[in-house]
Amino acid sequence: MRDLVVAMTGASGALYAVRLLEVLLGTGHTVHLTISSSATTVLEKELGLKVDLKHFDQRQLLPIEADLAQDPALQRLKDLRSGFSDLRSTFSETSKGRVLYHHCGDFMAGIASGSFLTGGMVICPCSMGTLASIAGGHSENLIQRAADVHLKERRKLILVPRETPLSSIQLGNMQHLSQAGATILPAMPGFYHNPQSIQDLIDFVVGRICDHLGIEHKLFKRWGETHDGQ
Ligand SMILES: Cc1cc2nc3c(=O)[nH]c(=O)nc-3n(C[C@H](O)[C@H](O)[C@H](O)COP(=O)(O)O)c2cc1C
Repeated sequence: MRDLVVAMTGASGALYAVRLLEVLLGTGHTVHLTISSSATTVLEKELGLKVDLKHFDQRQLLPIEADLAQDPALQRLKDLRSGFSDLRSTFSETSKGRVLYHHCGDFMAGIASGSFLTGGMVICPCSMGTLASIAGGHSENLIQRAADVHLKERRKLILVPRETPLSSIQLGNMQHLSQAGATILPAMPGFYHNPQSIQDLIDFVVGRICDHLGIEHKLFKRWGETHDGQ
């Protein structure tokens, strides 16, 4: 099982990224994680999480139950997390995988080089700004550089944009990236699996990301599956 790269940028939908990390760790993956400065703004705004990019600690992003109980700012995350069903839960406390964090300005990180082998990269959520920079080949931070590397090495690069409506510039960037080999997987949950909650919607998108990474999961009921999952 090769290491995976996950990058978080400043688009709305921080919970997609937090849940994706929980699932990847729960399935025993080693995740190279990098986070943009704008992503920290969104993490705090949407989930109450305060992530210090210079002094990163995994519990800032994936607080354990004791952290959630103590900090009133994390009540929303606590509520959201408890809504993921037990069967599907992969809380960080019990997970088998590990996070290797790299500052987004650190071009010395292994993931900045094509010689560092990975099983693929996901940018979740992916801002229009980062998407445009990758489409332009700018490589101005580690996130953009690692994405550039995955494209040039012809490895899996999954972008999870969140924006609406989309301008023709943004659509053009997505088309360009798709033609260059990236998978554009918008944070655009389906409704055919009869979602009952925000968690069902989140797990639909996270499950589709896992599908494209080749990771088996039971995050949602697939079209054509019977109730017993056959
Ligand atoms: C609360 C908040 C929500 C945002 N939501 C989005 C969004 O959904 N999509 C997007 O492309 N940009 C969004 N932005 C703007 C980006 O954060 C901004 O363009 C930033 O420069 C992106 O930088 P990054 O790609 O380095 O993370 C949002 C900003 C804030 C503060």
